[in-house]
Amino acid sequence: MSSSLPSSSKGLAAWQASILHFLSDPGEGDAPASYEYYERGLLIVEDGRVRALGPAHELSASLPLGTVVHDFENALIVPGFVDTHTHFVQTDIVASPGRQLLDWLEHYTFPEEDRFASAEHALSVAEFYLDELLRHGTTSAMVMGSVHRVSVEAFFEAALRRNLRMIAGKMLMDRNCPATLQDTPESGYRDTALLIERWSKTGRLDVAITPRFAITSSPLQLQKAGELARAYPRAPIQTHLAENRAEIAWVQKLFPERSGYLDVYDHYGLVREGAVFAHCLHLADEERALMAAKGAAVAFCPTSNLFLGSGLYDLRSSDTAGLKSGLATDIGGGTHFGMLPTLGSAYGVTQLRGEYLSPLRAFYLATLGGAQAIGLEGSIGNFATGKEADFVVLDRHATPLLERRQARARTLSEQLFPFMIFGDDRAVRQTVIMGEIRSERVAVANS
Ligand code: GUN
Ligand code: ZN
Repeated sequence: MSSSLPSSSKGLAAWQASILHFLSDPGEGDAPASYEYYERGLLIVEDGRVRALGPAHELSASLPLGTVVHDFENALIVPGFVDTHTHFVQTDIVASPGRQLLDWLEHYTFPEEDRFASAEHALSVAEFYLDELLRHGTTSAMVMGSVHRVSVEAFFEAALRRNLRMIAGKMLMDRNCPATLQDTPESGYRDTALLIERWSKTGRLDVAITPRFAITSSPLQLQKAGELARAYPRAPIQTHLAENRAEIAWVQKLFPERSGYLDVYDHYGLVREGAVFAHCLHLADEERALMAAKGAAVAFCPTSNLFLGSGLYDLRSSDTAGLKSGLATDIGGGTHFGMLPTLGSAYGVTQLRGEYLSPLRAFYLATLGGAQAIGLEGSIGNFATGKEADFVVLDRHATPLLERRQARARTLSEQLFPFMIFGDDRAVRQTVIMGEIRSERVAVANS
């Protein structure tokens, strides 16, 4: 909380509503010290960053005259949602009826990604995709492009125009996919290095080293990816791991000298802090322990895992191993752009495993937990003073059912739960990027 606000309201604005954010992982027991909640809170933003957060009755008197205050009844403000794994190039194949992973990749994904050789096509999809993310309240994501460098350049152009904090990378893939989608170990290295040099310090963007998965990279390409990781020790890394049984069997055939799937990536120096592995459905405890020890993270993609029949993520075993998990849509294997439906599916997955994902923990995973998983917790994820002011205003009355259900809610958890179980883009009233409203839904009176 801050008491000495500037006397001028230049660059200053405030949002008044219920406000929730997390300071740490609430764990299975919803630790009270892990979050702050203000029934009537005030979030003060200055020059795009969090200036102060606290109870409205304490803070509003300190606001200089003329400061714009966005005052919401029946709303809950939370930090912007973080999608820890998604493919913008798969926007147009969401809900394509492949059977399981390998069939779906061959029949829908690869043909679709071929289109991204065109910068013009890539830009038009990136524009749509990012507007869709904002409409759903997602303010940061770790994103896979296609094999084409231009696809990622188009994505970054569109993200820069919206001033978004985004991580993206060009896929490395030099075998076991159509020839038109293959790079080479050398060209993949060169294109990734060019992207890093050009974009990693531009705006709020960063570039990830992105081998698609062990099946589509030769040993030489994975070696080159490891060389990139050494040349750029702070670069994020993203790939897929242990998603589907047929995939795992194929990896074992391709790399018989390695002790398992994770060991393939580890051998080439790709398991480290800042590395995010999507799915991780079929791992051994020792593999989780190794990932945790090295500071890597998992992107838990529940809608994708259900859609492709891949399996049920073992969140509890990851927790036990001290392995970080973030939540992810995995568009287009995933079926929803938004994190609210993703939370609902994550809840279903934990229920099927006989576990319980509390609403507080779910909102933590979608915000600060996601930021920690993709290494952005120093900039985003909660309302600590000085952090970038990316957040969403959720409308408790967005639909007649939400309004009716909220009227019954007695506790904070009960208020969060309907958003988590049947909330979607209609519940996202505003999405704010560094203090600027970038997406706004006009409220419709429920009568
Ligand atoms: N494994 C390798 N590529 C992909 C992809 O595009 N989507 C999913 N879900 N898994 C993958
Ligand atoms: Zn994926």
